[in-house]
Amino acid sequence: MESSKRPGNGQTGRRILQVGRLLPSLEEELRVRYALQVLPTGPASESFLADHGETFEAVVTTARVGVNAELMRRLPRIGAIVHFGVGYDATDVDEAMSRGIGVSNTPDVLTNCVADLAVSAMLAAVRGIAAADRFVRRGDWSRGGFPLTSRVGGKRVGILGLGRIGRTVAKRLEGFDVDIRYHNRREAEGVRYRFHKSPYDLARWCDVLIVTTAGGDGTAGLVSAHVLDALGSEGYLVNVSRGTVVDEAAMVARLVDGRLAGAALDVFVDEPNVPHQLLDLDNVVLLPHIASATLETRQAMAQLVLGNLSQFLTDGTLLTPVPN
Ligand code: 8YV
Repeated sequence: MESSKRPGNGQTGRRILQVGRLLPSLEEELRVRYALQVLPTGPASESFLADHGETFEAVVTTARVGVNAELMRRLPRIGAIVHFGVGYDATDVDEAMSRGIGVSNTPDVLTNCVADLAVSAMLAAVRGIAAADRFVRRGDWSRGGFPLTSRVGGKRVGILGLGRIGRTVAKRLEGFDVDIRYHNRREAEGVRYRFHKSPYDLARWCDVLIVTTAGGDGTAGLVSAHVLDALGSEGYLVNVSRGTVVDEAAMVARLVDGRLAGAALDVFVDEPNVPHQLLDLDNVVLLPHIASATLETRQAMAQLVLGNLSQFLTDGTLLTPVPN
């Protein structure tokens, strides 16, 4: 943490608290504009909050770090929590609402990149792309061909969560000659994909289940052991949402003993810690939470963070308040 950095006043002198690390160029721009301070981690946070907690007007944080109810209590004057990321499950939004604190995220600007990654992760899992790369690097090719994998065309793909990202995944998949259906909290209007009334029904139908739902309490454990069993030993799981949406222990057990064919995972329950049993499995593609991690998209997310903060400090409203 950069708590030791001396806080300047920036151009405006407005007091902003940063919780968690941000894109370096965003941190830099925030320092230029505002009297930015970074919340120290560990025991140092206690005296920092006692000394400065009452002085901040807004918080900037990431989708993964967020602001819990206790921290909000220590920041009695904040009027906004501005997230870098579309997810805001790490923040206690109900508590924020009850305190009259606005919450914003960065929707839309990352949709295409997250959908790109979901589709490429699906291809990687089904065609064994990462394992094939390791096979060549190990020199195994000279001893024989790579084992046959499975065909993508003709597969039944279930999308769990047909929001912006789920719809964009579906749009991209239309080029792959797959059959697409979905489950969503509510049946979506104006889409031609068939709706399944539960994650279990969708998993029973599909060969590949792609998880694009929001994280948080409402979706925790949605992909349960029961749902994973419905997906079955020929089924693949792709998760670009949050690790918490899947019963991770049940998933690991099934990937280890073949009750699931494979998986591509960009998110985990306890990032950056990945269940060690997965590290040796060639049927699992492991990614370090990179779905939105392109230069262009991260810069667009940073611009939206700056836009939200600036608008809040000008007129008290947010550009992209949640829910959106
Ligand atoms: C990033 C994300 O990991 O947007 C989200 O919800 O999970 C990702 O885009 C995160 O925002 C970067 O800190």
